[in-house]
Amino acid sequence: MKNTMVRIRQEEEKDFAKIYDLVEEAFKTAKVSDGDEQDFVDRLRAGDHYIPELAFVAEESDRLVGHIMLTRCRVMMKEGFFDALLLAPLAVVLEYRNRGVGADLVKEALRSAKEKGHKAVFLTGDPVYYGRFGFKSVANYGIGCAEEIPLEYVLACELIPGSLEHVDGKLSWE
Ligand SMILES: CC(C)(COP(=O)(O)OP(=O)(O)OC[C@H]1O[C@@H](n2cnc3c(N)ncnc32)[C@H](O)[C@@H]1OP(=O)(O)O)[C@@H](O)C(=O)NCCC(=O)NCCS
Repeated sequence: MKNTMVRIRQEEEKDFAKIYDLVEEAFKTAKVSDGDEQDFVDRLRAGDHYIPELAFVAEESDRLVGHIMLTRCRVMMKEGFFDALLLAPLAVVLEYRNRGVGADLVKEALRSAKEKGHKAVFLTGDPVYYGRFGFKSVANYGIGCAEEIPLEYVLACELIPGSLEHVDGKLSWE
């Protein structure tokens, strides 16, 4: 079933408490979770990595059924750094899964980021799920990660083809 009634819009302050609950609930059934994702969202919003225009909710009638955030991250290079975006977290409530809501959130976030001139998006997640949107292991680009996470789960998507060609170093979102 396609989510004909679900619309994607930018998150607003009035949504924050509902998003907290949505993310907490969604990650209870995640394959991988540290149980902290809802607080991670709040920490991201409180810091200077937050970009309000790149945080979205999926909504049906007045109910929030999904959420996604793109925030600032960097690849630390030998000299200087490469500015990019981190996709995290992505959450869809259990009853709305497998209807394309997650895909719609990812596609809208990537489309909007590209439109705003961003060059690449990184994330940690399942390569099978995110592969369909063009994400590949950072190892393909010779990029590492500052965190101790196997590189097959640290993924990158070029918004502009070739944008990661000359980028080498370690991804950092701290
Ligand atoms: C992952 C999540 C956002 C997907 O949302 P969704 O709205 O069901 O996604 P879509 O409907 O766009 O896509 C569903 C497809 O993704 C697959 N899928 C869902 N979660 C997956 C996962 N963790 N790994 C691999 N594939 C996954 C489904 O099997 C389905 O496959 P199909 O299209 O071949 O049938 C949702 O399952 C969720 O909120 N999970 C809990 C939180 C979480 O794990 N977030 C992602 C962290 S990386």
